Amino acid sequence: MRMYDIIMKKRNGGKLTSGEIQYFIDGYTGGEIPDYQVSALMMAIYFRGMDEEETLTLTMAMAHSGDMLDLSAIGGTKVDKHSTGGVGDKTSLALAPMAAACGIRIAKMSGRGLGHTGGTIDKLESFAGFSTDISREHFIRQVNGIGISIMGQTADLAPADKKLYALRDVTATVDNMSLIASSIMSKKLAAGADAIVLDVKTGSGAFMKTLPDSLTLAREMVRIGNGAGRRTVAVVSDMDQPLGRAVGNALEVKEAIDTLRGQGPEDFMELCMTLGSRMLIAGGRAREEEQAREMLREAVSSGAALEKMAEFVQAQGGDSRAVRDTGLLPQALHIEPIPAKTDGYVQSIRCDEIGMCSLLLGGGRETKESEIDLAVGLVLCAKTGDYVRAGEPLAYMHYNDPGRAAAARERFYQAYAFGREKPQIPALIHEIIEQA
Ligand code: URA
Repeated sequence: MRMYDIIMKKRNGGKLTSGEIQYFIDGYTGGEIPDYQVSALMMAIYFRGMDEEETLTLTMAMAHSGDMLDLSAIGGTKVDKHSTGGVGDKTSLALAPMAAACGIRIAKMSGRGLGHTGGTIDKLESFAGFSTDISREHFIRQVNGIGISIMGQTADLAPADKKLYALRDVTATVDNMSLIASSIMSKKLAAGADAIVLDVKTGSGAFMKTLPDSLTLAREMVRIGNGAGRRTVAVVSDMDQPLGRAVGNALEVKEAIDTLRGQGPEDFMELCMTLGSRMLIAGGRAREEEQAREMLREAVSSGAALEKMAEFVQAQGGDSRAVRDTGLLPQALHIEPIPAKTDGYVQSIRCDEIGMCSLLLGGGRETKESEIDLAVGLVLCAKTGDYVRAGEPLAYMHYNDPGRAAAARERFYQAYAFGREKPQIPALIHEIIEQA
């Protein structure tokens, strides 16, 4: 078999056999097939797509490219949660401690930022000293001890995805249904949870921009998860404007902490409630949605969820004082309002553009090796449907480098559209899929 032939077959619209898929996954993971050939194949898949059978084969080959984590040493049902990626999507940061405070065992593997979207690990590194580079023993001991641990994707869990993810991020091949489904589900299957709750984003800030594409992705992942014997549910949620108000690593951590104090943005809290209630039901802690919501509300109002966040940060070497005093998180040197140029209702916000602004400020990676600036980003004052007058701030920009700020400011204005009529506000939850 030759990689050249596999690339050409897919380029010409052919269907790859399971032998061909296994060949390129093994060869890439083992270092025999170079990045440039796999980049070409990713681009061919991007344009030609893969059918259900190819996607399933790819997922299984990636899941088995390394070890399959055995979580049987942790008692109870282990529930994992994963988002397909969005702008301002800090859900895991608030939801994991909320669900853990309700007795769910959170044994979660997370990733770094990808394209214009942020990643949980980068955000968590806003706590000085925090590490997701922990051993399996540490991970399992911590979940048994305090009910929650988040680790990075180790080299031995789904290593094929680890390499492909980094390559796709810098070759404009992220937003393909089969590549996203196989990337997420291979990790989730290898990471060993019994139940999986997926947050599938749809809209301008998501990798899948239209509702039909997002529904197809959600069904595909639910089919793969349930087929592999893991109870899987997908919530299809809106990403047509940033979630909450903060975009940028440390700024999002602060917003998650505010939410655990009961002072978070309404849309963000509602998404945490929707996903959290599915986690509590899947984990056998609640029988139905209203009971689950009540438990989550109580975890926030009693302070138990905030306390769980502090315990979690400390257990992974982070400075947990920042949970109580967010002034200890990384801070940008400059904070500057971005004023509206006209009066009017915000009609829409191109949220991939907002993600790009944060990236331009230094908050995301432009190459695999880029270092990110945790302090920078934006805090939005105006969201879709809000009325603003010229001169009022649309957002506050947090930055360290004035040169980067000038480019981000320009880009920011392109994201907002204004009009005289109040627009319809996009629904936050579009659909919940339990059976594909
Ligand atoms: N999240 C992932 O883990 N993989 C993707 O491909 C996209 C989002």
